[in-house]
Amino acid sequence: MQIRQIFLITILLFSAPIQAETKSFESQANQAIKEFAETLKAALMLSLQTDGSVKTIGVCKDIAPRVAKQVADKYQLDIRRTALKVRNPDNTADDWEKSVLREFENRLENGETIKKLRFSEQVETDGVKQWRVMKAIGTDLVCVSCHGEKIPEQIQVELNKLYPEDQATGFSVGSVRGAFSVKQRIPTD
Ligand code: HEC
Repeated sequence: MQIRQIFLITILLFSAPIQAETKSFESQANQAIKEFAETLKAALMLSLQTDGSVKTIGVCKDIAPRVAKQVADKYQLDIRRTALKVRNPDNTADDWEKSVLREFENRLENGETIKKLRFSEQVETDGVKQWRVMKAIGTDLVCVSCHGEKIPEQIQVELNKLYPEDQATGFSVGSVRGAFSVKQRIPTD
């Protein structure tokens, strides 16, 4: 009995801090994603209302990476947007992100709502351990003027100029446009 208790306490003592760290990563990642998403959406809506769609392309181009950096610095993690089909090649998904995005597509097909599409995992690459989390970004009505099937000509002309390798068109409302992707190195000591 005593040995069992000691055994249990030892396990608890060693696992508690790890659980606490995981929990802290999960909640910080959620918070970071929320802040990134809300700031971007607000900037997008404001710009669409005041400047129109063509100028708003600049919001997606310049503001998105800037907000990502601010949020990353604040929460001490790496955050970005990615997708299976990207507009900016800098946003190309890595292998882990691609498999999670494919799984999101499957889960959506099997009836899950986009809001629920989230996945997190501890990943080890080249001896470096990281916490990783992804959360799907759905395609809303406001998105299709720049990512949809029929993009207005003025916007298309501007997109062709800025993104000659653009793949991020043809999306319909309710589909997965991409995902937020967060990673943080797990301290080893
Ligand atoms: C005014 C045009 C415009 C609108 C509206 C727009 N986007 Fe974009 N989107 C862009 C541009 C331009 C980029 C490339 C940004 C860059 O250079 O990183 C982009 C990039 C993205 C990316 C990053 C992956 C990639 O393809 O490079 C995601 C995810 C994304 N948009 C989702 C959305 C969602 C969701 C909405 C609607 C809420 C939306 N966008 C509305 C123009 C737009």
